[in-house]
Amino acid sequence: MLSRLALRRAPRLALVRTKYTGPGNDIQASAVTIEETKNPKAMTPAKDLKFGHTFTDHMLTIPYNEKTGWGTPEIKPYQPLCLDPSATVFHYAFTLFEGTKAYIAPDGSIRLFRPDKNMERMNNSARRIALPEFDGDQLIELIKKLVKLDKKWIPTDKGYSLYLRPTLIGTEAALGVGPSKDALLFVIASPVGPYYPKGFKPVQLYATTEFVRAAPGGTGGYKLGANYAPGVVPQKAAAQHGYSQNLWLLGEEHALTEVGTMNLFVAFTKPDGTVEVVTPPLEDIVLPGVTRDSAMQLMRDHASGKINVPGWPEKLEVSERKLVMNDLVEAEKNGTLVEVFGTGTAAVVSAVDKIGYAGRDIAIPCGPEGQGMGDIAKGLLDRMEAIQTGVIESPWSVRAD
Ligand SMILES: Cc1ncc(COP(=O)(O)O)c(C=O)c1O
Repeated sequence: MLSRLALRRAPRLALVRTKYTGPGNDIQASAVTIEETKNPKAMTPAKDLKFGHTFTDHMLTIPYNEKTGWGTPEIKPYQPLCLDPSATVFHYAFTLFEGTKAYIAPDGSIRLFRPDKNMERMNNSARRIALPEFDGDQLIELIKKLVKLDKKWIPTDKGYSLYLRPTLIGTEAALGVGPSKDALLFVIASPVGPYYPKGFKPVQLYATTEFVRAAPGGTGGYKLGANYAPGVVPQKAAAQHGYSQNLWLLGEEHALTEVGTMNLFVAFTKPDGTVEVVTPPLEDIVLPGVTRDSAMQLMRDHASGKINVPGWPEKLEVSERKLVMNDLVEAEKNGTLVEVFGTGTAAVVSAVDKIGYAGRDIAIPCGPEGQGMGDIAKGLLDRMEAIQTGVIESPWSVRAD
């Protein structure tokens, strides 16, 4: 029998290489062919946008074959894909994706937010399910071309952006379970509005003990399509109990891992007044969120005095450490629980005001009346949005034009 320790020691695949290593060609952005649409779509008014329902005029596709490597990238009118019904994507979930956004800066330029992090994660996901890796810099160049062509689709109102969905699927027409000899990388783009159009509202979490999202040695640390469909039934169960999202736990101690499809942060006060913001370690269980990484870096920069984020305490500490439900129960009792929030590309920051656990609700402070979130979450949201939209210049905000 495999001991728990052995499971914990499962090797991590998280290398940072973002290059194709097979016998054929890597992606070459300079080889792209561009076909502009002859039938531009009617634009949906910003106020009517529903997340992920409207798509721009164009898409990017890059085919792959095991022998020849990556083929010619094409930017062409948005259209259905034509795939064989036996394609590996349909049977064994050979599919992975990314989520990132393009914004318009005050100077009118298009900005991407840390696209290199998405490329790194996409290559890690590809490696985990034996799909081909690729040169992330070349894909970034192609994404820049796509967003430039579809620039009119990037909304300019506050809180709006163009959501980008790079996806990689196995397309080999064969039913044997094994590496897919053919693949397709595509990128589609969808204009989106703010997650909370009517002001920030905290979410309620159901601490889920009946299902797990991820386990040691599994795939939770990778952005695979296969991780998401099994989350829908637990999400519906949470909704039936009157909560909006799942708090994903692991193991008998009920270790906290993630919130719905967001990374988790919990802030506590320490006896000397320091606020410690804790996020669970990745360990191939937690998805390495770009927002999570950015949040930790901003908090560390604030703590070291490199930057000053309004509303954040001077004595701030960030820890990546294991948290169990009992830590929250104790902190609620002692009055040391300051805030709980989730981070992710879609909402950036989502505050939590209660967690249903073991038959009762843990109450979480949520900042001053009307703010809808605590000061740590609010400071983070404001700083992230300012960087993403180029209001505060940062190397994280990458120009596309
Ligand atoms: C399971 C899961 N955790 C965390 C995140 C947050 O990641 P990011 O900040 O890169 O959007 C996401 C969304 O991508 C997710 O699907």
